[in-house]
Amino acid sequence: MTHIMHRLLNTPYPVAVAGDGPYLIDAQGKRYIDSASGAGVSCLGHSAHKISEAIAHQSKKLAYVYNAYFTTEALETFADKLVAMTPPGLDWVFPGSGGSESMDGALKLALQYHNERGEPQRRRFISRRQSYHGCAIGGLAISGNQIRRMLFEQFLPESHFVSPCYEYRDRSVDETPEAYGARLAQELNAQIEELGPDTVAAFVAETVVGATAGCVPPVPGYFKAIAEVCRKHGVLLILDEILSGCGRTGTYLSCEQDGVVPDIAVVAKGLGAGYQPISAILVSNGVVDTIARGRGFFFHGHTYNGHATAAAAATAVIDTVRSENLLENVQAMGVRLREALRDRLGQHPHVGDIRGRGLLIGVELVADRETKTPFSAETMLWNTLQKTAFARGLICYPGFGTADGVNGDHVLLAPPFIINETHVAEIVDKLAPSIDEAIAAVRKAA
Ligand SMILES: Cc1ncc(COP(=O)(O)O)c(C=O)c1O
Repeated sequence: MTHIMHRLLNTPYPVAVAGDGPYLIDAQGKRYIDSASGAGVSCLGHSAHKISEAIAHQSKKLAYVYNAYFTTEALETFADKLVAMTPPGLDWVFPGSGGSESMDGALKLALQYHNERGEPQRRRFISRRQSYHGCAIGGLAISGNQIRRMLFEQFLPESHFVSPCYEYRDRSVDETPEAYGARLAQELNAQIEELGPDTVAAFVAETVVGATAGCVPPVPGYFKAIAEVCRKHGVLLILDEILSGCGRTGTYLSCEQDGVVPDIAVVAKGLGAGYQPISAILVSNGVVDTIARGRGFFFHGHTYNGHATAAAAATAVIDTVRSENLLENVQAMGVRLREALRDRLGQHPHVGDIRGRGLLIGVELVADRETKTPFSAETMLWNTLQKTAFARGLICYPGFGTADGVNGDHVLLAPPFIINETHVAEIVDKLAPSIDEAIAAVRKAA
């Protein structure tokens, strides 16, 4: 009996009662290794007591003030530390409480920026197919994720989509990765020119595509070429680092590895590591200056923006990432996990691709390796895989629609930054038989 309207209304949920490093423990005492950090959130694991102490300390001192009237030491310290972690040029922080909220804020910021510059007609957004930018209306409108849009399509404002950067499926055999990236930048250029450059506000992309297509990193040079196209047309570049940011890929922002600094970036999940709900829009000096010289205030804000307790938690998370050298551990364990997956699954007849960056890793499952034919949507392989993994005490994040928005399956792995080699081995030892069992089960049911 529950009064909670859970996501699945007809399915009982196990009750999680405790955490221990990368493990979750349920009410029956069963231990699960959390190789997804929930949904890419719990980057310090489930028992980082320093963060809990920082929260307790701040909430006893001062839990909340209304952001229209006050700032707090906790909030200012958080912003200073966050800016120190990010590339020069992104020197401003607009705090929020979750990814979707901040993504919608980022879109409104782009619209206001152009308005202040005397170009209010720049109101179009271009993003990519096979993408996800949040479940609020703005973020959903620019999300290519067909399934998540489906029921709300008629209510979503106009958006425009170009191809994702999806090397495994879309790079031709006679094309280098660089040439493929350049081709995609040309496609964006053509789309902007077709719409009319002076009508386009921003291009939005996940630096590493997350749950929609299963951790797809960009090819070398892709974002540099994209940034160049945006700059040429006065179109802002907004990077969604809600999942890929905050150290998940081994650098604080993932775009550092692509050599680009966007005009606006959004971070969320790893920012509070699950100890508090917190997100941030990171904003370039150029955008902030324009608004400061224009109306002087951002026409946007939520009651909980800048929450002092959440800010104290995020500061403690950043301090921990730094003091425990966790970016280095993400790099090292990311390599180990990808190697271990390739050793174990690299020749598997139903594993098409193992990819990712740092500890954001995707394993794409296919019915046929040679032709890359996906399992059809009806098999719901991803769903069975979640169950076979859970039964073995493995939390992973399987997804669907990988290949074309409808068909295809993948497993997303995003373990906590604190994992070691023993945890890597345990994840792979549990994942491999879970995949075999799930495939056997859907085959039998077909
Ligand atoms: C890339 C990306 N953007 C946006 C969101 C939405 O964030 P939230 O669920 O915190 O609203 C997510 C969440 O999964 C995400 O992965």
